[in-house]
Amino acid sequence: MKGVVLAGGAGSRLFPLTKITNKHLLPVYDRPMIYYPIQTLVDAGIRDILIVTGGRNSGDFLRLLANGKQFGLKHINYTYQEGEGGIADALALAEHFADGRKLCVILGDNIIEGSIRAAADAFRAQASGAHILLKEVPDAERFGVAELAGGKIAGIEEKPAHPKSNYAVTGIYMYDSTVFDKIRTLVPSGRGELEITDVNNAYIREGSMSFSLLQGWWTDAGTFDSLLRAANLVAVSPAHRGDSEPDSVERAAAV
Ligand code: DAU
Repeated sequence: MKGVVLAGGAGSRLFPLTKITNKHLLPVYDRPMIYYPIQTLVDAGIRDILIVTGGRNSGDFLRLLANGKQFGLKHINYTYQEGEGGIADALALAEHFADGRKLCVILGDNIIEGSIRAAADAFRAQASGAHILLKEVPDAERFGVAELAGGKIAGIEEKPAHPKSNYAVTGIYMYDSTVFDKIRTLVPSGRGELEITDVNNAYIREGSMSFSLLQGWWTDAGTFDSLLRAANLVAVSPAHRGDSEPDSVERAAAV
């Protein structure tokens, strides 16, 4: 399975922090935001990674990450999203990179405490379809929200005013190669974006969506409050504090 980190978008909710740089280059405690989702993929045993970036500061990703030596990688792939057409629009750019293989997609502003290794291994063994990770949260209306029925996901609503559950859809998605056909059928939402929630609902409709519950804390970092929360969580997290660069290289090499 290959990995994709989506790091495009305008970061408008963090203006003026994002006036002169990309959201995913901002610091979260002791490292740039994008380090965390890359490490999440590496910890899941993924070595072939594409960064989708955009905006005026895309060259800074190359200067920061180079070929990924700090993550134990030999190489990182990069592509560029023109405009801010949504998460699914950014993912569409990964079709050539995927080359028919399964993908683990992570949003560049999603930070987790633990590992997605078990879910990734389960999806490697799943014949086809998709797998998403849910997390119970107190503020579900900020996210895509899953409606659960009979142990399955009945549907997902994007930022509903009245959530049907407390289970947020985290920004970690695993897809088979049909994801690109599904993206081609999408039309822009009310906010003018191709929504990842519409992609996920397409898998749910065809009965091929599985899910698991994410263990440990999870946060996005795309608003002032969540950016602060992310830094505070990382600062007291033994998993992250012990995760200095030399260690993570060793850990990646040992996988
Ligand atoms: O964090 C999880 C949530 O992320 C999910 O629960 C929602 O279902 C999903 O829609 C998304 O919600 P947000 O509205 O918070 O997404 P946001 O627009 O902040 O974008 C999240 C990341 O996706 C961003 O850090 C980079 C990437 N992105 C986003 C857009 C709009 C792109 O690469 N290109 C884009 O055009």
